Amino acid sequence: MKHHFSKKILLTGACGYIGSHTLVDLFENGFDVISIDNLSRGYMQLLKGVEKITEKSVQNYAIDLCDAAALHDFFDTHPDISGIIHFAAYKSVNESVREPLLYYHNNIASLVNLLQEVQQRQIPHFIFSSSCSVYGNVKHLPVTENTPLPTAESPYGFSKQIGETMIRDMAQVCPQQQFVLLRYFNPVGAHPSAIIGEIPHGTPENLVPYITQTAIGKREQLTVYGNDYPTRDGSCIRDYIHVCDIASAHTKALQYLMDKKNTGNCEVFNLGSGEGVSVLELIQAFEQSTGKALNYRIGARRAGDVVAVYADNTLAKEKLGWIPQYGVADMMQSAWKWEQYCANM
Ligand code: WQD
Repeated sequence: MKHHFSKKILLTGACGYIGSHTLVDLFENGFDVISIDNLSRGYMQLLKGVEKITEKSVQNYAIDLCDAAALHDFFDTHPDISGIIHFAAYKSVNESVREPLLYYHNNIASLVNLLQEVQQRQIPHFIFSSSCSVYGNVKHLPVTENTPLPTAESPYGFSKQIGETMIRDMAQVCPQQQFVLLRYFNPVGAHPSAIIGEIPHGTPENLVPYITQTAIGKREQLTVYGNDYPTRDGSCIRDYIHVCDIASAHTKALQYLMDKKNTGNCEVFNLGSGEGVSVLELIQAFEQSTGKALNYRIGARRAGDVVAVYADNTLAKEKLGWIPQYGVADMMQSAWKWEQYCANM
């Protein structure tokens, strides 16, 4: 079904890990994209990489979304935006515990400013980058979208819960506008070209960049945060999902809305592989798929870690027609290839 909307899409945070990979997928699906990224956590290197992969360029406005006046001027200059994918936010659980106000201000004030523009200008489609961290410690696995949300485990997770609630409340009073909330599980890996990938902000807190930096010699040794959990091998279980699969889900969600296939105007989808993998299993998969032995030790548990979480992704499969294409070996090989590319830059 053809839609009559302009194909001009605004990506906030296009200079980040998930934003840049989604940009590639949008370009490959014929969308015209414009970017707002204040480069506080993003890198122009990633936009350059996208241009190299797709031979398409994107204009970035280094505007802080917390600056309502600058954002208003931007939308005055670009009145033909038919969809927004909102990635721009801080996303470190640990940092959010250390600096809660930084997270509440940055992640929530920016979203309020953006949603005010969306409402005033009747922008028809809005996709919000949410996270499995809204689920906290779940009782029943796999976790489905209608699992009741507990009190969040961190200011970061709470900022995502607040964001979802703000959008749900707005959708109630904006029946003509369509919203989708995408809850990412653990995005890992890099584009097969290895020209774009994850650029950790300082010392990596996440497992996979720490693995690849250890393997390439940037880090001495990986510490596994606990192997005394009630799981099959004692280490925590997560749902790792290739960043390119996360990217394609955004394009499909946009097309889902533009083709008016949505049944409600604020639907939520889990973006996970549906498979739980333990830390020790992921390390083994890294070693087997790259041939690199990893130097690691077992250390103490990390505060705030949930024992196990993985997605029921049936809804995204059935409604968005989204089928994850990459397995754990692809995730590990692409992450490793990207680490090697960075080392040779
Ligand atoms: C995964 C597993 C660690 C590092 C977080 C956010 C989530 C999302 C993804 C934003 C855990 C273990 C880790 C290390 C380790 N981000 N680990 N040694 O915590 O599942 O999710 O990132 O949306 O919101 O919560 O990801 O990669 O930090 O940890 O043993 O050096 O790896 O204990 O079991 P996490 P992670």
